[in-house]
Amino acid sequence: MIGIFDSGYGGLTILNKIRQLLPEYDYLYLGDNARAPYGTRSFDVIYEYTLQAVKYLHEQGCNLIILACNTASAKALRTIQQRDINPDEVRVLGVIRPTVEFVPARTRTKHIGVLATPGTVASESYVIELLKQDPTLVVTQQACPMWVPLIEAGEHLSEGADYFVEKYLTELLTRDPLIDTIILGCTHYPLIQDKIEAYLSQTNRHMLVVTQGEIVAHSLADYLHRHPEIVERISSPLKGRSGGGFLTTESATKFADSASLFLSEHIEAEHIELQ
Ligand code: DGL
Repeated sequence: MIGIFDSGYGGLTILNKIRQLLPEYDYLYLGDNARAPYGTRSFDVIYEYTLQAVKYLHEQGCNLIILACNTASAKALRTIQQRDINPDEVRVLGVIRPTVEFVPARTRTKHIGVLATPGTVASESYVIELLKQDPTLVVTQQACPMWVPLIEAGEHLSEGADYFVEKYLTELLTRDPLIDTIILGCTHYPLIQDKIEAYLSQTNRHMLVVTQGEIVAHSLADYLHRHPEIVERISSPLKGRSGGGFLTTESATKFADSASLFLSEHIEAEHIELQ
C-alpha cells in the first residue's frame, strides 16, 4: 500500500493523478487538516508533524510514502530520510525534485516564477534545486500565505479569493515581467488553477502554469519501474489495513464532504489522532 500525506486537502490533487496512472495499487491518504496550514509554521514543527504522519502511515502498512506537500518536502523530507527511517522498511519521497526536473526544458525566457507557501519560499528549495538543473535560470518566488487557508476553509471559489489571486500574481509578475513559466509549488493550488489562469489571460499573459499531479505520478511510475523490490513490498501488505482509504485529523464528515467534491466521487473518511 502507498501512503499519501499532506497537511490537508492539497495532496488529493496528487493522489488523483497517481491513482489514474497507477490504479493497480492501494492508497491510504492522510490529511492533517486539524493542524493545517503548515506553510506558516517553523521548521521544527513541520518536521515533527510530518514525522508523526510518516510513522502513522508506516504503522498502517504503507511501505512507500509520498509527501504530497511541498512544505513538508522542503522542510522535513531530507531529515526524515537521513535520520528517522530505515529504507529497507519504508521509502519516503517528496514532490519538489520531480517538479524541478520537469521545468527547465519548458521555459523559453528562462525566467521562472514559483508560487508557494511562506515555508517553502523561506527554504529556498526551489531556487537551489532549479539552479542545480540549469544555473542560467532566473527564479523569482512569491509566498501566497492566504491561499491554503482559503482552500481549507472552502472559500477558494468565492469572489473574496479573487483579491488574493490577483494580489500574489501581480506581485510576482511585477518583480519579474519576463516570467513565462509559473510553478504552482503547493499541492493545494491546482484547486484554484482556474482562477489563476483566468487572471493571467485577463491580463494577456500567456504562460505555462505547471501543476505537480501528473509530474509526480509519472516520476513515481518511473521509480517503481526502477525498483521492483519496492513494487513487491507495496503490493503485498504484511500488516496494517488493506484496501487504502482516507484519514484525517479533523472531522471525518467535514473531510469526506470536501474531498468528495475535490475528487468528484463519494468517499468515506476516518478520523485519527497524530502524536
Ligand atoms: N499542500 C501543502 C504544500 O504543498 C500546503 C502546506 C500548508 O499547509 O500550508 O505546500
